[in-house]
Amino acid sequence: MSAKQEIILSGIRPTGRLHYGNYFGAIKSFIELQGKGHQCYYFIADYHALTTISERVDFFQQTIDMLRTYVACGLDPAQSVIYRQSDLPCTAELSLLLGMITNIGHLERGTTYKDKLSKLEQGAQGLEGNPLSFGLLGYPVLMAADILIVRANQVPVGDDQRQHVEMAMDIAQKFNHRFGETLTIPRAVQRNALRLPGLDGSAKMGKSDNNTLDLLDDPKTVLKKIKGVQTTTDPEPLDTESNDPDAVIPRMPNSVGALYRMLSLLAPEEVYLEFVGKYRRGEKFYGTLKTTLAEYVSKFNEPIIERFNAPENTPESVKDFLRENARKVTPVALETVEACREAMGIGRSLYRA
Ligand code: AMP
Ligand code: TRP
Repeated sequence: MSAKQEIILSGIRPTGRLHYGNYFGAIKSFIELQGKGHQCYYFIADYHALTTISERVDFFQQTIDMLRTYVACGLDPAQSVIYRQSDLPCTAELSLLLGMITNIGHLERGTTYKDKLSKLEQGAQGLEGNPLSFGLLGYPVLMAADILIVRANQVPVGDDQRQHVEMAMDIAQKFNHRFGETLTIPRAVQRNALRLPGLDGSAKMGKSDNNTLDLLDDPKTVLKKIKGVQTTTDPEPLDTESNDPDAVIPRMPNSVGALYRMLSLLAPEEVYLEFVGKYRRGEKFYGTLKTTLAEYVSKFNEPIIERFNAPENTPESVKDFLRENARKVTPVALETVEACREAMGIGRSLYRA
């Protein structure tokens, strides 16, 4: 047991298959934080998945698949409470309460909202019928409710979510300042959290951008995706002696950097260094880089795919599992909501025990 037990919480939206950005930006730390005496809560953010909905999507099936992938990657149901966000509906109640003290101006600066706004302004396709919703604007308030409801101290997320965690800290501070010490302030996310670039050379690998390498991709798909990465430019001289990925990768074209970043995460150091050497010497090597990387990726995916397909993963067993875990987290969450109701002056619920 560690000296101090921390409360850890994080979530991922069930909007598609889990990719390498999710794994190395978030899930890897979820796994590392287990078994150290902390209380870990990991959930599937199905309410958040609804913030961009324009027609019915089978989020329930996607939730089940995501849960199976979580467990296949190494999240241990014996060590972590893994639940579905909408099975904890008092999160929505806390979000409503927190919304009462959140400025709209603050929310308009939220990255998710701003990104969508700029896509709309640029006339992006596929967003018709899905304008900026109240739910999307309130995304960070709901996320604050997720975090604060279990009194999390630590929130392991990738770099793109840092701002949202900071908003949760601000909201909690404001609440405590106005209504007395009620909520636990989470710690800030460290500044150098990972942001894995996309296979298309864009800054972020993301489910909606069609540029991901997925944990459930089979070897054929892996090779096809990696071979498709654009490597038409010849290596440029590196103006650094360092071989550190954080020094080398920003000096490469983005799509090549994406390959190197994955190599540095998956391959033994000597393999990564060998390819940095080839790059420095300006050799023609992209073909072997791609096949080598594809092998490491497929090797990494193989046991995950196998565990994902384990026959004991029936829909009924997954449902039972989610039900049991919702029961575990509910008392903790209700206690926080009731404390906030009391602090704000409406008093405790009269029908909840
Ligand atoms: P999402 O798929 O957007 O719900 O993200 C779930 C988690 O994965 C969050 O903690 C994100 O910060 C993390 N994540 C998503 N994409 C990336 C990426 N390209 N690099 C690093 N982390 C990421
Ligand atoms: N917004 C997060 C994402 O897109 C998912 C999420 C929802 C989350 N609530 C959270 C992450 C609370 C951490 C804590 O990645």
